[in-house]
Amino acid sequence: MDMQAIPAREGNHNLKNYEDFRKTFSWESVEKNFSWHETGKVNMAYEAIDRHADNPDKKDKIALLYSDPNREEKVSFDELRLQSNQFANVLKKYDVQKGDRVFLFMPRSPEFYQAFFGILKIGAIAGPLFEAFMEQAVGDRLENSEARVLITTPDLLYRIPQDRLPHLEKIVLVGAHEEEGDQYIDFDSEMKEASTDFDIVWVDREDGMLLHYTSGSTGKPKGILHVHNAMIQHYATGEWVLDLEEDDIYWCTADPGWVTGTSYGIFAPWLHGVTNVIRGGRFSPDDWYKTLQDNHVTVWYTAPTALRMLVSHGEEKVREYDLSALRHILSVGEPLNPEVITWGLKAFDLRIHDTWWMTETGAQVIVNIPSLEIRPGSMGKPIPGVEASIVDNEGNEIPPNQMGNLAIKAGWPSMMREVWNNKGKYESYFINGWYVSGDSAYRDEDGYFWFQGRLDDVINTSGERVGPFEVESKLIEHPAVAEAGVIGKPDPERGEIIKAFITLNPGHEKSDELLEEIRQFIKKELSAHAAPREIEVKDSIPKTRSGKIMRRLLKSWELGLPTGDTSTLEE
Ligand code: PRX
Repeated sequence: MDMQAIPAREGNHNLKNYEDFRKTFSWESVEKNFSWHETGKVNMAYEAIDRHADNPDKKDKIALLYSDPNREEKVSFDELRLQSNQFANVLKKYDVQKGDRVFLFMPRSPEFYQAFFGILKIGAIAGPLFEAFMEQAVGDRLENSEARVLITTPDLLYRIPQDRLPHLEKIVLVGAHEEEGDQYIDFDSEMKEASTDFDIVWVDREDGMLLHYTSGSTGKPKGILHVHNAMIQHYATGEWVLDLEEDDIYWCTADPGWVTGTSYGIFAPWLHGVTNVIRGGRFSPDDWYKTLQDNHVTVWYTAPTALRMLVSHGEEKVREYDLSALRHILSVGEPLNPEVITWGLKAFDLRIHDTWWMTETGAQVIVNIPSLEIRPGSMGKPIPGVEASIVDNEGNEIPPNQMGNLAIKAGWPSMMREVWNNKGKYESYFINGWYVSGDSAYRDEDGYFWFQGRLDDVINTSGERVGPFEVESKLIEHPAVAEAGVIGKPDPERGEIIKAFITLNPGHEKSDELLEEIRQFIKKELSAHAAPREIEVKDSIPKTRSGKIMRRLLKSWELGLPTGDTSTLEE
């Protein structure tokens, strides 16, 4: 759809003269914002929390404005410093070392953030897991990372397959429980005893900080390792793209189990010392608007799937709330529909700024910023300091307006540094000096990038990335299922839904009950968002002669599209 460009936002913003700035920009100029530029002592936790707590004008400023349906809490930078010191001391007591993996598997809560920064302060690598993960998903990640310590809540304990996890020495339980045994640590009592003084473990810029698991089209989820150096890009994009100012009240709706919830739910806002709203629990439209209203949110980072839900509840709903503080809205995770941008202009009288990036990129890469016009349907332009392009399969750049691989010149500050325990996988991302994203896109003559789709079979459902292989592997563990092929099927609200094609084992008859049972099986073992919304029973699943499931063919059938080249199809 071709829509008119929306002119740049009026008034002041942090990155003016984008084109000129880009030409002369160098990352060294951003490094000067960090104390390590002079002291040589690096740690993300220091820059995000302690540095503000050390500043007499800022120490009592609210860092965290937490709320969920049962709890409200305000935490200052100084309090968060002391609490994270305490947790770092708890980890120290149990001999956690620099580089150890310490995972968090719990809902958003003030304790999550205390523990998170405690982990960074001791130089360990934090691994946040989405709270909806079930046993298999949790087990795979803890096993692959060889996590030594896990922080969780008693009601999630049943999803931790401890027998499978020889490296897991300690489980910290947040909340009342009756677990006994040496492996358990009680969060509340240990925190009470722990000193609020802690000497931060200084690390190298290139030391590991954060491990996020994400899905590809084959194999188990991959552990994407980010290092402390990423703060450079978190800070810069916080300034240019989030357009943060000292007095902002910022809300990022993403869970810290996903990269948006760490890079932009934790790092970018706190590196800038702004007040960060964290909302726990499930959301309804009223809840979203109330959170924006009651906290006087000024900058809001959310996702197309949430925005589409709000659109479906109408503009009248917006009018029931006072959202006059809101001045800047951003979106990430899936294509932002032009219709949603149009609706946003009417409903909020604000532009919605699309941003494109990935778990692997660690921070925003292609963006819309206030001082550039928005071309609805386009993801925008690359941030200063990062070169993006469209390349062919050999890594050669191709001319404007032609579709190809969306690629980034390797070496940006927040780039992943490792796929955990999988060098080959890491290297396979790079061709001819380019990081190849797996997305297809084109670039117009003016340098705006336009997303076209995924080039692999990775599914994006409600902004969450799901690997078909993981779902297929689980499906065939169900006694009734012989073979399975899983695809993403376009859906107006969720972007894509997961559709599974299965064949049944002898002795099993197709019935609604059976299909529901299979769906529940995935939900129980993997997670709700990975459970297929549609399951279709087939006589056979198309495979190549080498036995690979031809998901592309399944998708063409489903969408009634031409099937293309089927020469590799098994007889
Ligand atoms: O396909 C792209 C889509 O989400 C993928 C990355 O997913 P994940 O690693 O989970 O990170 C999501 C949030 C950083 C991309 O390969 N994607 C992300 N942003 C956009 C997008 N697709 C279209 N438009 C976007 N703005």
